[in-house]
Amino acid sequence: MVNVALPKGRLGDNVYELFAKAGYRCPEIENPGRRLTFENPEAGIRYFWVKPSDVAIYVEKGAADIGVAGKDILLEYSPDVYELLDVGLGKCRMAVAAPKDFRDDPKKTLRVATKFPKIAKKYYSSVGRDIDIIKLNGSIELAPILGLSDVIVDIVETGATLRQNNLEVYETLFDISARLIANKASSRFKRDEITKIKTSLKEAGKL
Ligand code: PRP
Repeated sequence: MVNVALPKGRLGDNVYELFAKAGYRCPEIENPGRRLTFENPEAGIRYFWVKPSDVAIYVEKGAADIGVAGKDILLEYSPDVYELLDVGLGKCRMAVAAPKDFRDDPKKTLRVATKFPKIAKKYYSSVGRDIDIIKLNGSIELAPILGLSDVIVDIVETGATLRQNNLEVYETLFDISARLIANKASSRFKRDEITKIKTSLKEAGKL
């Protein structure tokens, strides 16, 4: 049995559809109720829904053999896992965003609100800019509106959240998509099963 950590939410729904198309359908998951684990013994697969930012932890620790996590999470937490495949879902970008009239004043320390402190620090250190990080866990766009920060470092997908809050992209840092990741020990002990899943996903998603 291969244990798969799926990111709860819209990305996870799309990832499950890809697994289903690849031959790993699990009827139980289509009518979940409040359950969190679902298995299809014939297909040799067990799924569980976890918070998207926790997928990498489950996989790193071996609670899941494989999982699907955004490149943003992999860059922020640097989990000790193998990255097997870009599944081509969850496409978005990491960006610095700010109010439309924002002008950076290099004499002042820049206040940066973000869920991704490591990514933000790395970027600003690469351009030699002094910053203060304000670590938030969600609704990051509020920070500059309320004067808590000057800019944000966050994910932009459609740009609707920025637009509706009078913010705009100031600088794009990198593109993001979801990746199939694997636990290192599982990659040895369940090599054939994991390779088969990876190959089937590639075919199903034309990746
Ligand atoms: C993410 C991100 C932005 C939004 C971007 O938030 O932090 O707020 O999506 O998407 P858009 O460009 O399509 O508007 P998420 O939905 O994960 O919620 P959060 O506020 O809890 O971070």
